[in-house]
Amino acid sequence: MYRTHTCGELRISDVGAKVTLSGWVQRVRDLGGMTFIDLRDRYGITQLAIDTEKQAELGRQARELGREFVIQVVGAVAERSSKNTKIPTGDIELILEQLTVLNKSALPPFTIEDETDGGEELRMKYRYLDLRRNPVRRNLELRHQMGIEIRNYLNDKGFLDVETPVLIKSTPEGARDFVVPSRVHPGQFYALPQSPQVFKQLLMVAGYDRYFQIVKCFRDEDLRADRQPEFTQIDCEMAFVEREDILTTFEGLTKHLFKVIRGVDMQEDFPRMSYADAIRLYGSDKPDIRFGMTFKVLTDLVQNKGFKVFDEAEYVGGICAEGQAEYSRKDLDKLTDFVKRPQVGAQGLVYVKYNADGTFKSSVDKFYDAAQLQLWAERMGAKPGDLMLVLAGGESKTLNALSELRLEMGSRMGLRDKNVFAPLWVVDFPLLEWDDDSRRFYAMHHPFTSPVKADMDLLNSDPGKVRADAYDLVINGVELGGGSIRIHNDQLQKKMFEVLGFSDADAQAQFGFLMSAFQYGAPPHGGIAFGFDRWASLMAGLDSIRDVIAFPKNNAARDVMIDSPSPIHLEQLEELALKLDVRKEK
Ligand code: AMO
Repeated sequence: MYRTHTCGELRISDVGAKVTLSGWVQRVRDLGGMTFIDLRDRYGITQLAIDTEKQAELGRQARELGREFVIQVVGAVAERSSKNTKIPTGDIELILEQLTVLNKSALPPFTIEDETDGGEELRMKYRYLDLRRNPVRRNLELRHQMGIEIRNYLNDKGFLDVETPVLIKSTPEGARDFVVPSRVHPGQFYALPQSPQVFKQLLMVAGYDRYFQIVKCFRDEDLRADRQPEFTQIDCEMAFVEREDILTTFEGLTKHLFKVIRGVDMQEDFPRMSYADAIRLYGSDKPDIRFGMTFKVLTDLVQNKGFKVFDEAEYVGGICAEGQAEYSRKDLDKLTDFVKRPQVGAQGLVYVKYNADGTFKSSVDKFYDAAQLQLWAERMGAKPGDLMLVLAGGESKTLNALSELRLEMGSRMGLRDKNVFAPLWVVDFPLLEWDDDSRRFYAMHHPFTSPVKADMDLLNSDPGKVRADAYDLVINGVELGGGSIRIHNDQLQKKMFEVLGFSDADAQAQFGFLMSAFQYGAPPHGGIAFGFDRWASLMAGLDSIRDVIAFPKNNAARDVMIDSPSPIHLEQLEELALKLDVRKEK
């Protein structure tokens, strides 16, 4: 038997017991007469003690141990003279009688400690060592716990877990597909699913009125902290439901998870905000509503006063940072640099300090006198002591920049506490998005989303104005999930493909199976999918979803541990009837 207990198990009540432990050597400390070994496994650390004067052989063995050696020990549990209150096993130690090296370890490239000396790239290369560290292990445990709770909750509500295929068909909508060449059908390709969307709809047609799956999805898009090329969705669909049924069901799941995983009681109904308001007030379809600082439009107030930047702008808007009038010149310069970053995209920043004594100091004093700035303050609800920050330019670009500025100020002012969770349903998204380059509409969510009933007629007259029966769950500015009520009528689906610029033949070739299924009694249905990685990372208070994924890809979509993607053998290519045309640059 390799062990009778784990390294996190023994307590003062075990004193006197003779036990066997196995684990990894965290550290060896030689204190002259006594040698101590910290033995670690997934469950904790137990201190092993050797009286080297009495047990010279064990002492010699201990001196030969290195970090991360795997050992097995036998000994008696004893009360420690100096206790360690920081760990659950800190009251006891094991007086060693026997030590066996089960396996040696090469010197690890970084220390296996909570605060390690290893950089991100190194830790990714040796991810199996990184996974030994407590913070990473805790993240995976939290994710596991969430998975169990989600399954139990949905099972209790009658949802059926059904697996859907991973080798499917490439479609031009949405993000770029990952494709897999077929050997049996040379020149033809499968695609990996960006989500099981059409399959879950087909399951509704098949009568499985409550479906869920915790499922891998694949998208070949540019990576960010909250995006991986393969990620996991909690994918759900229900039949005979309206939007309200879906929001209620999944608000329930959300509240349950926060309660059991984080001990957070979300008593209130989640607030709802239209997409239009989210953009107008926060410049984002995923507003962080942990704090206010909403946008105020100033365009009508500020134009025709001789300030060219404002006069020429389509939109002038600002935010009021409460109590920040003390901002120094240097701070304001830094903020100006921030808004000018390409990711933020503003031309410059106008500030107005509403000093505590009631006077104003602004970067546009030349053009606006105190009386005028007073009007700005009234519009923005600013009081003495506040700082007003104003951006101007094209409307959508400026709203976006103002959103980044608002988040930056929120962070600087400590308004984005990771232990506060502010959920929000964003509803009534536009159904379609116009793309100037290709001069056509794209589905904002996906082509199977139903228009809201009231806007159905606009589909012919003014498609750009049609609202979708779609919703996103946003928490703390993170888009955690999204879904919609679907089209279940083949004529409406046909119309939708037409608006999206599909010819009949295209629609038939891409989605014929779905249109055909809709002819055999498709029930009204709708659903939602949550980003599991994002949800786990939010619950764990992390900034990147990488930390809740056991083996993630890096920013360049690479697995640096297994070194993938990588070239394949010529024979493999030939078997797949593929030829490479990789231009060697540099
Ligand atoms: P959507 O595309 O909004 O909807 O995806 C649902 C949720 O999945 C998460 N997500 C991602 N997480 C990590 N990395 C990515 N690259 C990534 N892309 C998306 C987000 C997002 O909210 N089939 C529809 C759902 C439906 O209509 O039911 C869908 O996939 O948290």
